[in-house]
Amino acid sequence: MRADAPDSLIAETPAIVIDEAVARRNIARFQAHLDGHGVKSRPHIKTHKLPLFARAQIEAGAKGITCQKIGEAEVMADAGLDDILITFNILGPAKLARLKALAGRIARLAVTADSAVTVDGLAATFANGPAKLHVMVECDTGAGRCGVQTPDEAVALAARIDAAPGLVFAGLMTYPAPGGAADVERFMGEALAALAERGLACPEISSGGSPDMWAAGGPGGEKSVVTEYRAGTYIYNDRSLVERGACALEDCALVVEATVVSLPTPTRAIVDAGSKALSSDLLGLTGHGTVIGHPQARIVALSEEHGTIEVPAGSLAVGQRVHIVPNHVCVVSNLFDTAFLKKSDGTIGEIPIAARGRVT
Ligand SMILES: Cc1ncc(COP(=O)(O)O)c(C=O)c1O
Repeated sequence: MRADAPDSLIAETPAIVIDEAVARRNIARFQAHLDGHGVKSRPHIKTHKLPLFARAQIEAGAKGITCQKIGEAEVMADAGLDDILITFNILGPAKLARLKALAGRIARLAVTADSAVTVDGLAATFANGPAKLHVMVECDTGAGRCGVQTPDEAVALAARIDAAPGLVFAGLMTYPAPGGAADVERFMGEALAALAERGLACPEISSGGSPDMWAAGGPGGEKSVVTEYRAGTYIYNDRSLVERGACALEDCALVVEATVVSLPTPTRAIVDAGSKALSSDLLGLTGHGTVIGHPQARIVALSEEHGTIEVPAGSLAVGQRVHIVPNHVCVVSNLFDTAFLKKSDGTIGEIPIAARGRVT
């Protein structure tokens, strides 16, 4: 208990505080949803970057995990996670060598590819073992990021993977735009038919994204072609998901704890959490987070170390702690070396965010 912040067990701010019970409830709830729809879960660890929660997701029923970077996957492999999909085009000799080393020490490694250049690099690297690399074709079903543009291109790349001795065609993958579940069905439905015509089996259709997680299994109640779902943000949730109606504020497991360090006017509070703690990610929203317990507070500006909050006069005092639900929680996890884990018995422990900063 702190004299300057009697309601907090955290010595110094800004800090990440995670309510473990809420995170575990979010894992269980979404796993039950996927189980109910016969869809496999392969959660994206980019949100939490913690072996503890990756293991919790597997224990809850996930078949494996998703990482974005080889560095994240290496951390997870060190922690015993042994079925990993890296949703990235891996290019260049240095990264390919790391990929090969990683494949040699876990049960199943998969990656995505959307060009012949990527596939050929993977094929050359894995031609002589040590293990087969599973490769999914990434399809752009509307998000406008990576991915082949047509079902025919997907089939051509699948055939190229299938013909490479060290590779296994592992299916089709997409990261849809929010609201894009129907586009996924259309694109993947056509691609499945075209693959069947070529005599190529498609082991998995992997989609993802927390904004539409409750549509996983079938948008509009129809049975989906999607067999595997990669949700990331769902474990903590964040302000963007609250605003989209995908969860309630009580479902947000991670907050940034900050201290009011200045009250230059009665209605302007300055906290010690700026863009280095909350990130500048707006995700299309107005304001930089939700201040718990202060519904009228608006985080109107951030500089690196300062957050400016407009509040009704008298609602905050210098030295007071506040808890902020960030707009985009995944990037916030990447900004801190450690997180404080609040257990259901009220105790708090500090843990390293093991896979933060793994940008290669
Ligand atoms: C390829 C891929 N799959 C899955 C996810 C998880 O999305 P979300 O955090 O919305 O659940 C992401 C997030 O960036 C992603 O890039």
